[in-house]
Amino acid sequence: MKSFGSKPWMLPQPVLIIGTYNENGVANAMNAAWGGTWDMHEIIISMGSHATTENLKLNNGEFTVAFATAETMLASDFVGIVSAKNDPEKMAKTGWTTEKAPNVNAPLFKNFPMTMECRIKQKIDESETGYYLVAEVVNVLCDEQYLNEQGNPDVEKMNIIAYEPVNHKYIQMGKIVGDAFSCGKELMK
Ligand SMILES: Cc1cc2nc3c(=O)[nH]c(=O)nc-3n(C[C@H](O)[C@H](O)[C@H](O)COP(=O)(O)O)c2cc1C
Repeated sequence: MKSFGSKPWMLPQPVLIIGTYNENGVANAMNAAWGGTWDMHEIIISMGSHATTENLKLNNGEFTVAFATAETMLASDFVGIVSAKNDPEKMAKTGWTTEKAPNVNAPLFKNFPMTMECRIKQKIDESETGYYLVAEVVNVLCDEQYLNEQGNPDVEKMNIIAYEPVNHKYIQMGKIVGDAFSCGKELMK
């Protein structure tokens, strides 16, 4: 085994597209890969100092989180390397269709199969450079075409991408290979 020292190489990281409105009600998006589950109804995101961070001070801290896909990858990366502070045409360049999310005052990008509507609950270690936000998931929206026969989101259909932090790549999620909390029962026999 080769050693690589202390690296925060969590495999894989989600590719979260955070949607917010600015003070004029103009939509913005940014990419966040440093995020995950916090509790039963909450997520956490490591939030730096961005146009999005300014927007999150408005609208009761409400935002959307869409899961990036192979189809939205180029624009998802673009919104992660260009700030609305520097490019007023940022969102127009993505080509994404935007409407207001039903339960929060934040934009819903219709090009993504699944989106969480969120509201900030707590900011941890807040400083000039950002904070860790804990947000309540108010609701989850899934495009009907990505539902399975049971009416649940079918992640296998979505071509979701993840961030691979070792080589800085996006990697597409593949096939379902087993049933969680279940396939291990084989060894109970
Ligand atoms: C793959 C990737 C992951 C990123 N993850 C984060 C993150 O977790 N937290 C963060 O604050 N910025 C992250 N960024 C950087 C922001 O997306 C970037 O600074 C963006 O341009 C901010 O846009 P805004 O200023 O218009 O809000 C990431 C960028 C990329 C490309």
